[in-house]
Amino acid sequence: MEVEPAGFSGEPCLCTEQKPPGAQLPVYAVPARLRRNPLPFHLGAWAAWTMAARSVGLLARSPLCAQSRSPVRLAAARLLSGAGPVAADVGREEQPLRGAETGSEDKTPKKRFSEVQEERREQAQRTVLIHCPHKVSEKKFLKYLSQHGAINNHFFYESLGLFAVVEFARKESVGSLQSGTLMPHEAAIPFRSRFLSLKLKNAGGQPSEPPSVRASQQLPPSSQRLLERLCRAESVGDQLDTLLQELQLTEENVRLRYLTCSLIEDVAAAYFPDCTVRPFGSSVNTFGKLGCDLDMFLDLDEIGKRSTPKTVGNFLLEFQVKNVPSERIATQKILSVIGECLDHFGPGCVGVQKILNARCPLVRFSHQASGFQCDLTANNRIALKSSELLYLYGALDSRVRALVFSVRCWARAHSLTSSIPGAWITNFSLTMMVIFFLQRRSPPILPTLESLKALASAEDKCVIEGNNCTFVRDLNKIQPSRNTEPLELLLKEFFEYFGNFAFNKNSINIRQGREQNKPDSSPLHIQNPFETSLNISRNVSQSQLQKFVDLARESAWLLQQDGEGGPAPAPRQPWGLAALLLPSVRDSRSLSKKQNRRPASERVKSLLESIKEHNPDSPTATDGKRTMSTHA
Ligand code: CTP
Ligand code: MG
Repeated sequence: MEVEPAGFSGEPCLCTEQKPPGAQLPVYAVPARLRRNPLPFHLGAWAAWTMAARSVGLLARSPLCAQSRSPVRLAAARLLSGAGPVAADVGREEQPLRGAETGSEDKTPKKRFSEVQEERREQAQRTVLIHCPHKVSEKKFLKYLSQHGAINNHFFYESLGLFAVVEFARKESVGSLQSGTLMPHEAAIPFRSRFLSLKLKNAGGQPSEPPSVRASQQLPPSSQRLLERLCRAESVGDQLDTLLQELQLTEENVRLRYLTCSLIEDVAAAYFPDCTVRPFGSSVNTFGKLGCDLDMFLDLDEIGKRSTPKTVGNFLLEFQVKNVPSERIATQKILSVIGECLDHFGPGCVGVQKILNARCPLVRFSHQASGFQCDLTANNRIALKSSELLYLYGALDSRVRALVFSVRCWARAHSLTSSIPGAWITNFSLTMMVIFFLQRRSPPILPTLESLKALASAEDKCVIEGNNCTFVRDLNKIQPSRNTEPLELLLKEFFEYFGNFAFNKNSINIRQGREQNKPDSSPLHIQNPFETSLNISRNVSQSQLQKFVDLARESAWLLQQDGEGGPAPAPRQPWGLAALLLPSVRDSRSLSKKQNRRPASERVKSLLESIKEHNPDSPTATDGKRTMSTHA
């Protein structure tokens, strides 16, 4: 039976978003927002193109990088800038969107990972996602929805259309809203989700006003804006903080991630009513960058916990279940069926791929409405525990996240990492390397995993599949570090440390916080903190490792030049972190090799070469300073 929504004439009404059967959905359709606005992941390619274009006179310089660098290291600024909304989870409830404090200097009691997860999950359950027409009036829209109860929070964003995320104060309001929502007439699978579509009755009669809502930004800033901001910073330390502020997940983006998990949970609940879908990885460990993927874990453990078996006399009842040969096969079967569900009736889920033979079986899909690339796994509790550990490390000292973001961004700019699986270093491995480096400082900035285990209480005890995953979960029990080294020094030392690390014989181990002999011959060995027999960077090839080492040495040297007050960079020249994000001598050599391979005319090739040779700004110049030019 259709229920007429309780709208007012000429005003909005809601329909459920559905997936029509047989609809041709593009595999991995790239959301328009991604096509329009390149991610800073492409910084290296962008800068390489800029460099080549400039050398043939295609681009003019603009005074974007007029720098106001002060030699004074603004340690205080670092302490005050710190982390934003994700880290705000650590400290307090409602934070301004940017610039909240965190870290060892912050005396506010810090929340446990599990508390944050539960609060966010409950918040997501009171929230709906609504696809809106562009000419919607925000005021009327909110008035219409508030018939169902008070609204706590809302925001709009753009992703293949305009969407609203609306959080009600009470969960009952969602039920009331759903019962006042129309099921569309088209041939479609009738699924009552919390992903709705707003239709305007008498849409033709609506005044054609410009959009009246402000859409929140779910994307990282453009490379150009990022470089401008970095060049305007006061010091290298300030640049690291700026990068963090610009790239970290916003409060809205975090809400959208939890909401997406909650919507997927509704689909999975069709089979497993008591399941939970939890985000893990960089979406929740505080190291996520705007645009990162959404890792999800289908947790079926609650199903078993619901019953309290009653034994009377000799009798005990057990569910009849289908036995399978192993846990792995059970996981594959569960994911296979959930993959089918998402494909057939998951509103907004497109390009569903079942990758069940991987070491960790998963279902990969795009959630079109949020724009997230999602990886759904099951039986992956250890990865959730690693996310908790990284969350804890990220919250212990404000320098940790700033350093991790810069190293990740640097690695992406030089194509050391990639979104395509391959022989590259991953962001997870880079984070482990930063943590290890910070454990090796004197005095240490971060404690070893063994010492976190020693601080654990009985309630922290955790063993998963025979692996001891115990560590203290209450952040407030961990003493802040006495180390006061500035970020600038730490960045330089990080590059120096790994530029000279004996990768051929040593393994990186954050459990012990010291190098250990490599147990095998993989070029890079980083021990998985909980499954200690595993190497998280087993995929990394010798040539990729060598590229990392070469770039680390070069970057350490560039920062050293800056620190020693080497030749003052000319005005407009990028400096500090901004200079590290530009193509290196090595990158430009391989770029010119590639160009030489291209069937370009001899005239253009020789022009390029001669301009490079005579251009004092050439990135191959060996004075240690590289130049950046931007669009006029
Ligand atoms: N993970 C792991 N072992 C690996 C790879 C990943 O335990 N060899 C776990 C980690 O907890 C990691 C999570 O799976 O955080 C998700 O992996 P991935 O998406 O590759 O890394 P993220 O940390 O989410 O970083 P990114 O922003 O690149 O997605
Ligand atoms: Mg991830």
